[in-house]
Amino acid sequence: MKEAFITFKQIGTIRTPYYNNAPYQPVDQEEDSFFIEIHGDYVDGLNDLSKFSYAYVLFYAHQAQGRAEMVVSPPWAKGKKVGLFSSRSPVRPNPIGLSVVRIKEIRENMIFISGIDVFDGTPLLDVKPYIKDLDNKSDANYGWLDELDDKDHLTLHIKGIPHEH
Ligand SMILES: C[S@@+](CC[C@H](N)C(=O)[O-])C[C@H]1O[C@@H](n2cnc3c(N)ncnc32)[C@H](O)[C@@H]1O
Repeated sequence: MKEAFITFKQIGTIRTPYYNNAPYQPVDQEEDSFFIEIHGDYVDGLNDLSKFSYAYVLFYAHQAQGRAEMVVSPPWAKGKKVGLFSSRSPVRPNPIGLSVVRIKEIRENMIFISGIDVFDGTPLLDVKPYIKDLDNKSDANYGWLDELDDKDHLTLHIKGIPHEH
């Protein structure tokens, strides 16, 4: 089947202290400054967002390099190979990332957020509220992570939680 090409607009820019290295997933307790600048045309769309404590941030992983492989080995998973779509790799046919962050404050066109796992300057595609009960599934499981010998320990690495080895 012929692939359709779809164009998205960059609606803002994500500002972080990460240039070459970023955590695998957002680190909520990071103390540095993380914020999103929304471009002028979209600022009114921020009304009422500060009433929510968390938001989904969808971004374009603009520095993703190389062809998306359908079997990947996440860098923290000790060689385990899994299908791309069971992973959170940024190298995908459509390099779209999804992170949940805490909303600290919204001022004019800026959303101040908890830590997010993206490089400084990452283009923003969308923001949506994370809604209690609608978005958390109490019967969610760990999928293939349960097959890892030291899942609990590796999970600390993914979440960026300091710990002793
Ligand atoms: C494993 S991905 C997870 C992203 C998102 N939380 C998700 O689950 O879709 C996070 C990694 O993507 C990489 N990354 C962050 N920003 C990027 C960007 N703008 N372009 C390419 N890669 C990026 C960094 O190596 C970071 O550790």
